[in-house]
Amino acid sequence: MAKTIFLPFPMFALLVIFGAILSVNSLNITADQLNLLALKSYISHDPHLLVTNWSTSTSVCNWIGVTCGSRHHRVIALNLSNMDLTGIIPSELGNLSFLAWLDIHNNNFHGSLPIELTNLHRLKYLNFNNNSFNGELPSWFGYFPKLQSLSLSDNYFNGVVPSILGNSSKLEHLLLYNNDFKKINS
Ligand SMILES: *[C@@H]1O[C@H](CO)[C@@H](O)[C@H](O)[C@H]1NC(C)=O
Ligand SMILES: *[C@@H]1O[C@H](CO)[C@@H](O)[C@H](O)[C@H]1NC(C)=O
Ligand SMILES: *[C@@H]1O[C@H](CO)[C@@H](O)[C@H](O)[C@H]1NC(C)=O
Ligand SMILES: *[C@@H]1O[C@H](CO)[C@@H](O)[C@H](O)[C@H]1NC(C)=O
Ligand SMILES: *[C@@H]1O[C@H](CO)[C@@H](O)[C@H](O)[C@H]1NC(C)=O
Repeated sequence: MAKTIFLPFPMFALLVIFGAILSVNSLNITADQLNLLALKSYISHDPHLLVTNWSTSTSVCNWIGVTCGSRHHRVIALNLSNMDLTGIIPSELGNLSFLAWLDIHNNNFHGSLPIELTNLHRLKYLNFNNNSFNGELPSWFGYFPKLQSLSLSDNYFNGVVPSILGNSSKLEHLLLYNNDFKKINS
């Protein structure tokens, strides 16, 4: 005999919460595309017309500098190095939740870095060398759980180097030379 099953309240609540978490995380390749188009809209100078290649008529996975993963079919790497780009990094970049590799070295990205980048929990490699970023080096660089390589040399970061960087357990490679950091007198 069929019987209606009533879920006990806590389990029902759990399902609702789980569903809400799923829908918040329902970012997909379409969202990746929108967020990369947001980045494109903040690039003011693209002399070699590379980012111009980022057109909605082709899959984001075929865009220059973009690599998608085979398993989840999401953007896992962004390599815009050596493209002579001028622009800023918008908070939308923090929505690329599968990103593990972010390389924009040798460009002219400037301004400060949005805290939303801390949402990139899978990030292992970040290379911002030789751009024009300024402002204090954010202490949240110390909180990426998987970050192995962090390169921020040849920028205009100032202030003190956050000591939390020394606590990053996975960090193996750290480049900070040629910035405007204060020397700490001991
Ligand atoms: C993908 O994400 C977009 C934007 O967040 C949403 O509108 C769309 O319904 C999602 N598609 C699928 C198949 O989940
Ligand atoms: C962008 O560049 C890729 C790789 O060179 C190419 O396959 C693709 O067709 C280009 N897309 C556009 C819209 O030009
Ligand atoms: C990143 O892009 C540059 C220039 O397009 C290329 O020379 C380099 O090999 C790429 N790096 C990786 C790891 O794919
Ligand atoms: C992406 O990021 C922006 C700014 O951080 C946010 O407003 C937006 O809702 C996010 N969502 C999606 C689906 O990309
Ligand atoms: C920095 O990048 C510029 C191009 O944006 C390049 O001409 C220059 O050689 C690079 N400098 C270093 C130290 O790599």
